[in-house]
Amino acid sequence: MNLTLKIWRQKNASDKGKMVTYPVTDISEHMSFLEMLDVLNEQLIEKGEEPVAFDHDCREGICGMCSLYINGEAHGPDRKVTTCQLHMRMFNDGETITIEPFRAKAFPVVKDLTIDRSSFDRIQHAGGYISVNTSGNTQDANALPIPKKNADLAMDAATCIGCGACVASCKNSSAMLFVSAKVSQYALLPQGQVEATDRVLNMVNQMDLEGFGNCTNTGACEVECPKGISLENIARMNREYLKATIKG
Ligand code: SF4
Ligand code: FES
Repeated sequence: MNLTLKIWRQKNASDKGKMVTYPVTDISEHMSFLEMLDVLNEQLIEKGEEPVAFDHDCREGICGMCSLYINGEAHGPDRKVTTCQLHMRMFNDGETITIEPFRAKAFPVVKDLTIDRSSFDRIQHAGGYISVNTSGNTQDANALPIPKKNADLAMDAATCIGCGACVASCKNSSAMLFVSAKVSQYALLPQGQVEATDRVLNMVNQMDLEGFGNCTNTGACEVECPKGISLENIARMNREYLKATIKG
């Protein structure tokens, strides 16, 4: 396949940035989207040009690092896959593909297609953990009965990889889907009850401090989430938040 790529180039956080057009040749339909960018970068380096900076780590849908806005969609046109799992067979020979970084006030661009998602880390630090009793009377976690439905829902919530596609897809740049997944994975389990009140209050507070917008139930986040995180988590987080506010 031969393609035309329109890519956001930005030298650093303070640079204004602009779209630049590049032809890329000899792309196999079996390549992943990131492998296609690797080919582009090799071709740019051969020409003595600056390669395009983009984030990646695992390249198997686990780490949440790859974060491209492709043809107006977070992680591109396929469903329930990350950019690293997106294959070039989803595109046509001769096509023009537009590639931008995830855009949100709380995700500033670092360079080209790489963004700073440390705001997510700070939300996690505010409550994404549990305390374990190490007094010697610790109860074996395996001895705690947990309804199968709750265990499954907690596991589903825990599959959130923190990629930020939910924020990038939301017209309000809301992080509610991400935060609600992190709150839900503990709220559904007995181990999460010790800090339940502080967790939801602190994580929501940090989310607001980071400058994420509010949820207006458009549902774009759920559609673009590569892990299929359900909007039901947002409803659960709202209930947890209300409960915590009443408790004080
Ligand atoms: S909720 Fe989905 S889209 Fe949002 S950070 Fe988690 S995995 Fe990514
Ligand atoms: S590079 Fe790890 S999820 Fe894509």
